[in-house]
Amino acid sequence: MPELADDSVQLMVTSPPYPMIAMWDELFARSDPKIADLLKKLGADGGEITVRQIYDAMHENLAKVWAETYRILVDGGIACINIGDATRSINGRFQVFPNHSRITETCEKIGFTTLPYILWKKLTTKPMYKGKGAFLGSGFLPPNAYITLDCEFILLFRKGKLRKFPPHDKERYDSAFTKTQRDEWFSQIWAFKGVRQTTSELERRTAAYPEEIADRLIRMFSIKGELVVDPFLGSGTTTKVAMQNKRNSVGYEMDEKLLPVITRKTVGHNDMDSVVEIITRKNEIGST
Ligand SMILES: C[S@@+](CC[C@H](N)C(=O)[O-])C[C@H]1O[C@@H](n2cnc3c(N)ncnc32)[C@H](O)[C@@H]1O
Repeated sequence: MPELADDSVQLMVTSPPYPMIAMWDELFARSDPKIADLLKKLGADGGEITVRQIYDAMHENLAKVWAETYRILVDGGIACINIGDATRSINGRFQVFPNHSRITETCEKIGFTTLPYILWKKLTTKPMYKGKGAFLGSGFLPPNAYITLDCEFILLFRKGKLRKFPPHDKERYDSAFTKTQRDEWFSQIWAFKGVRQTTSELERRTAAYPEEIADRLIRMFSIKGELVVDPFLGSGTTTKVAMQNKRNSVGYEMDEKLLPVITRKTVGHNDMDSVVEIITRKNEIGST
């Protein structure tokens, strides 16, 4: 993210492509020829070693963005990463790929301090026992049924020490949340539905997260007038919500086809005087 200077951003909120979720395979392959080769090899032998190599390579790829985030954040700045674990069968053996723990370890190695995370429990309208994919495994018989992955993680990290403010800082006090909001937002489980599927096909392909997620995180971890960055902007949710909350915003999105969606959601509705910059090219992972 070369447009952004060292120590210049107060908050990063994002949801990257999820490693080992099939819908993102092609994107990772385009970002990194090594992953493309490994995915081809997987088709040929379906082997355990190849899958492990793909998992490693996808996380190495994302790690470049986490390192770049560390560089641009101010001392005390916060990074919020929405990520789901993935399940995949290899040679008929079902297993989970714990993306959340891999990202946590990577961010710690980069220098971030890990903070308590949030579990987003995705409420579903699917019937619990009849819904396709609601349960995996052998129904009512122990011991071979699997737990359904119905939570995603919102991982929270801090760069450096706590931020300091002058006493009674006006912008900070103007950004205060209510007691009810504090009690709900700072508890570990957030339960609400995913994005309603009435959006465009293009927007659905980004797997947009609910505005409520971005809204809470931006109000919990930044102050009016500050800068919020999303390195994987998708349909523009983070920027839209940053504007609504009087924060400035920079978003990176490599898929130029999403520009009209992002523009419709954001710049077209900028009556908040927020400074918004949408950069439609790849961030630092892969080639530009
Ligand atoms: C999970 S989606 C983000 C969805 C977003 N939170 C929303 O609400 O729409 C991830 C996005 O990252 C983009 N992306 C993936 N790799 C990228 C890269 N290297 N640089 C910029 N954008 C990238 C993809 O095109 C995709 O739109």
